[in-house]
Amino acid sequence: MSITDGGVRGRDFVGYRIAGAISALVFILLLAWAVFEIFDGDSFVRPEVSMQAAGTEGEAIAERNQGTLLASEVLTARTKMLDERFRTGPSPEGETPELAGGDARIVSTPLEDGTALTSAWAVPSADDAAMLQAAGRVEGLSSLPYANAALYERPAGRDWRIGISDFVTHLGAIAILGMAFLLSAILALRGRVPIRQGKSGRTVKRFGLLERTTHWMTSVSFLGLAFTGIAIAYGETLFVPLGERVMGTLGWWSTWGHVLFAPTFFLGILLMIVMWTHRNLPSKLDLNWLAKFGGMFSDDGDHPPAKKFNAGQKLIFWSAVLGGLVLVATGVTLMFPYYFLGIEGMSWAMLIHAGLAVLMIAIFLGHIYIGSIGMHGAIDAMWSGKVDRNWAEEHHSIWLDEIDTQRSPAE
Ligand code: HEM
Repeated sequence: MSITDGGVRGRDFVGYRIAGAISALVFILLLAWAVFEIFDGDSFVRPEVSMQAAGTEGEAIAERNQGTLLASEVLTARTKMLDERFRTGPSPEGETPELAGGDARIVSTPLEDGTALTSAWAVPSADDAAMLQAAGRVEGLSSLPYANAALYERPAGRDWRIGISDFVTHLGAIAILGMAFLLSAILALRGRVPIRQGKSGRTVKRFGLLERTTHWMTSVSFLGLAFTGIAIAYGETLFVPLGERVMGTLGWWSTWGHVLFAPTFFLGILLMIVMWTHRNLPSKLDLNWLAKFGGMFSDDGDHPPAKKFNAGQKLIFWSAVLGGLVLVATGVTLMFPYYFLGIEGMSWAMLIHAGLAVLMIAIFLGHIYIGSIGMHGAIDAMWSGKVDRNWAEEHHSIWLDEIDTQRSPAE
C-alpha cells in the first residue's frame, strides 16, 4: 500500500490516514457500546400498572418492589380522581378542584355543546369502528376499577414490538456504526484512492446540470430523511439524556421533517430512473470489475475497464432505485394509517421501512465516502460536472474512448 498521489508523497494524504485512524477508534468504541446494548436487558417492556394485594403481606411485597408500589399508588389516585370528577360534574371555568389525599388535579372548562362531543365518542364513525375492529382486541374479565383494564393488547403487537425495538433498532445501529468503522479503517490503512498519474489539467464532461441537480436534491432529501428517521428511532437513547424539552422539540421537528423530505426524495428517484437506467443494465464487464473489486485496493494502476458506470456504481444505482421505491411505498402507507393497510399490514410496513432504512443508510455511507474523501478527483464529477482525463482513463476507460470517438468520429 502506498500513500502517493501520482508519484508525489502528499502530506494531505497522510493527514487523511490519521483522521481515518482516529475515527476508526471512535467508531469501534461506539460499536462495542451498540453490541453491549443488545445484552443489557433494558429493552424488556415492563407493565406500567399493576395492583398489589392489600394488607401487611401486600405492603411487605410492595416495600421490596418500589415500582409496584408506585404503580398501585398511581392507579389508586387516578381512580379517586375519576370518582371525584363523576360526583362533582363539570366545574366552573378556571376552577380547579383539589383532590383529598393526592397531588392529582383536574382543570375543566364548560363545553359549548357537550352532547355533540359525547355522541361523537359514543357512536364511532365508520372509520373509527373499522380501526377498533382491525386492532383485533382481546377482551377479558378484570377486577380492576376501570373498564379499559379488561381490554388486552393485540397479542401479535408483542412480536412487532420485539421486531422493531430489539431486532431492527439494535442491528441497525450495528450496521451503521460497523460501516462507519470499516470505512474509517480503510481510510487509515489504505488512504485515499489516488489518481496514479496525477491530474492532467485537461477535463472531460461527465454529468449535465439536470443530472447534478437531481443528484443533490435526492441526496439532501435522503440525508434529511436519514437524520430525522434516526431521531425518531433512536431519540430515546440519543436525546432523552439532554432533557425532555430537547427530546420533545427534536421529536416534533423530526416527525414533520420526515414527511417533508419524502416528496423531493421520490421525485429524485423517478428522475434518476429516467436518466440513468439504460446505463446501469448489467453486463459481462461487471463480473470482471467485481472480481477485482474495481482495483480499489491496488496502486499498480490495474483498474478494470468500465463504461460510464462500473459494477459498484450500478449496485449503488439499483439500491437507490429499488430501496428508495420500497421506502416510499411503505412510508406512504404509514403516513395514512388504516387507509391502505390494516394493523397487520402496517406492522409489516413499519418493520420493512425501518429495517430497509438502516440498511440503506449503511450502504450510502459507503457511497458518500467513495464519492468524497475516499477517492481523489471523484467529487468533481458531481460538483462541476467535469472530471480530469487521467481520472476518467483510470476508472472509466471505455467511457472515455466513447467520448473521444464521438468528438472526432473521423479518427
Ligand atoms: C451527500 C453525499 C453524497 C456525495 C458526496 C455523493 C457523491 C457522488 C459522486 C461524486 C457521484 C459521481 C460518481 C461518478 O463520477 O460516477 C455520485 C453518483 C451517484 N450518486 Fe451520490 N453522493 C452523495 C449522496 C447520494 C445519495 C444520498 C444518493 C441516493 C440516495 C446518491 C445516489 C447516487 C447515484 C445513483 C449516483 C450514480 C451512480 C454512481 O455513481 O454510483 N448519492 N454521487
